[in-house]
Amino acid sequence: MNIEQVKKNGIPKHVAVIMDGNGRWAQKQGSERILGHRQGVNSVRSIVEGAGELGIEFLTLYAFSTENWDRPKEEVSALMVLLIDAVVQEIDNMNEKNVRMLVIGDLCCFPSEVESKLKEAIESTSNNTGLNLILGLSYSGRWDILTAVRKISREIKSGNLEVGEVDEKFFESCLSTAGIPDPELLIRTSGEFRISNFLLWQVAYSEFYFSNILWPDFRKENLFEAIIDFQNRERRFGKTSEQIIS
Ligand code: IPE
Ligand code: IPE
Ligand code: MG
Repeated sequence: MNIEQVKKNGIPKHVAVIMDGNGRWAQKQGSERILGHRQGVNSVRSIVEGAGELGIEFLTLYAFSTENWDRPKEEVSALMVLLIDAVVQEIDNMNEKNVRMLVIGDLCCFPSEVESKLKEAIESTSNNTGLNLILGLSYSGRWDILTAVRKISREIKSGNLEVGEVDEKFFESCLSTAGIPDPELLIRTSGEFRISNFLLWQVAYSEFYFSNILWPDFRKENLFEAIIDFQNRERRFGKTSEQIIS
């Protein structure tokens, strides 16, 4: 695969990924689910590298959903430990690769040690100017929309905002992704065809790419394949094909 050729055909600014299939990957090896999560960190490293090579500006990874808190306690705590370890271990690597880490989600829900390590990584990488790596942690699209609605309601109630001022642009500025362009491409691994409460508002016009590969087996080459597939699509945004071509 010629990376320069892929780059010539237009790279999306923002790619979002639902990293799914860790548990099934582990079960196939006869191992505990956490082993799949652990292997999944290697996939993250590979696609962060690939995204950097392609010059993608924003890569959003859905790592832990609001609903994932309802998993068995042992799995949730093992995931918390893995999260701290991975973030701490990757800080130098991110700084070396000029990656800026950001988090979207309800950080308050995390054990304080996790929260402080995340904040440390965000702070330490905050001046980097390359890829923006956005982790969805305790994130859900409905949480994001509701949080924005609450914020807007408070502003209206306090008399600082008129109802008429709330348009799409303003609403977007109240979401956790404020200032980040909507993802042009959304990838989901593991052969599931659903959105699972990810970026509900932001994917209004995203192209979806579904892969059967389980997340721990996903590598940057698979990301490149997804980008090539994306490059062959016609994005019409409600218009006719003729309007797009002319
Ligand atoms: C995705 O893999 C990781 C998280 C949701 C934390 P899963 O753990 O959902 O793996 P499967 O879907 O059970 O195989
Ligand atoms: C979606 O995967 C959430 C993340 C990848 C973090 P899930 O495995 O939680 O989704 P469902 O339950 O299969 O829809
Ligand atoms: Mg899953």
